[in-house]
Amino acid sequence: MTARKRVAVLISGRGSNMTALIEAAKASDYPAEIIGVLSNKPDAAGLQTAAAEGIATAIRSHRDYASREAFDAALHAVLTGWNAEFVCLAGFMRILTPEFTGNWLGRMINIHPSLLPEFRGLHTHDRALKAGAAEHGCTVHFVTPGLDEGPTLTQSRIPVLPGDTAESLQARVLVEEHRLYPLALAELASGRARLVGDEVIHTPR
Ligand code: GRF
Repeated sequence: MTARKRVAVLISGRGSNMTALIEAAKASDYPAEIIGVLSNKPDAAGLQTAAAEGIATAIRSHRDYASREAFDAALHAVLTGWNAEFVCLAGFMRILTPEFTGNWLGRMINIHPSLLPEFRGLHTHDRALKAGAAEHGCTVHFVTPGLDEGPTLTQSRIPVLPGDTAESLQARVLVEEHRLYPLALAELASGRARLVGDEVIHTPR
């Protein structure tokens, strides 16, 4: 097998998607290894999970930087210091500059809890319910400068059930997120999914 790709994960909170990636990468045939977890929040619970797994962690608080550009430069320095080849955003709650997203174009993905392009941004479950959506789900997409706008790598859809609340929907979508994100990273790290221009090219196994 070719060398496993070095992947850093950016988080801001609990890090359950990060944990799903770490667990998946324990398989010897998984094409990526999680080599570092970076948070903009010093108290992000996911940092402790990562450290307990023996993974390098770093904190760069956006509050310590005068501009988005300076903050993103600090993130970039950590990632390059780790020799990261790919970046997974996993509940990372900062908007990134075009320069940063440009540096990682085609090498950085995000998971979003909706069927993009529907419901970009926050409160997706509540908004899906209020819109009367019959289906909801999650999307893994390449990161481009526009928030939740990059080309879709893969999606998972679930039905909205009678009686669903934002909480019940969120819980079922999260189960799908934890299944989907490791699959998507495997596609990316193995080269079976690539960003070419604005399109995602999938190469069958
Ligand atoms: C997930 O729902 C993810 O899709 C969204 O933020 C949430 C992060 O949860 N971007 P966790 O930190 O991975 O548990």
